[in-house]
Amino acid sequence: MTVDELRALVRTIPDFPKAGILFRDVTTLMGHGAGFAAAIGHLAQLAQSAEAQAIAGIEARGFIFGAAMAARMGLPFVPVRKPGKLPVPVLAIDYALEYGTDTLEVDPGAVAEGARIVLVDDLIATGGTALAAVELLRRAGGDVVQSLFAIDLPDLGGAERLRDAGVPASALMAFP
Ligand code: PRP
Ligand code: ADE
Repeated sequence: MTVDELRALVRTIPDFPKAGILFRDVTTLMGHGAGFAAAIGHLAQLAQSAEAQAIAGIEARGFIFGAAMAARMGLPFVPVRKPGKLPVPVLAIDYALEYGTDTLEVDPGAVAEGARIVLVDDLIATGGTALAAVELLRRAGGDVVQSLFAIDLPDLGGAERLRDAGVPASALMAFP
């Protein structure tokens, strides 16, 4: 499937979760078997080019894309979790969202020292979430060599902020 065909599978919902936000919903992309498989295939190819040794995904939608990629590639999956979910002492960081604030946590034992990690999420907007995840994975000893997203919202500048932080960022499609 072409990138334009994949782009057409993303549903746009105005004013969710609050007024003024154009919500780019990947549920409809995931709900299309061939489209989801093609998206995972494209992303896995990019992760392969980055010589990934592990895939890290951000809860919740990043788990769906990242875990599918990791399984396809036969690589370990590192979950970057929302707070209070991991049953071990964690590394934690607070971050700002396009519409609020949140916390992310990582089990430091889930990251092999020096491992080449590819970070995955469904979408990058301001980049606050991905930057927080990069910081956590670095603190855990990982080398975040690439970040991959299904969708980039370039007007919000997140991919540029990631590149400024030393992490290349690529997305399958953009919604300017
Ligand atoms: C969404 C999306 C990214 C983040 C992008 O997650 O899945 O993780 O926002 O925004 P940013 O680039 O401005 O940080 P959300 O917090 O809505 O959580 P969810 O995946 O649990 O729905
Ligand atoms: N996460 C942050 N901003 C978003 C948006 N506009 N659509 C979907 N998910 C998002």
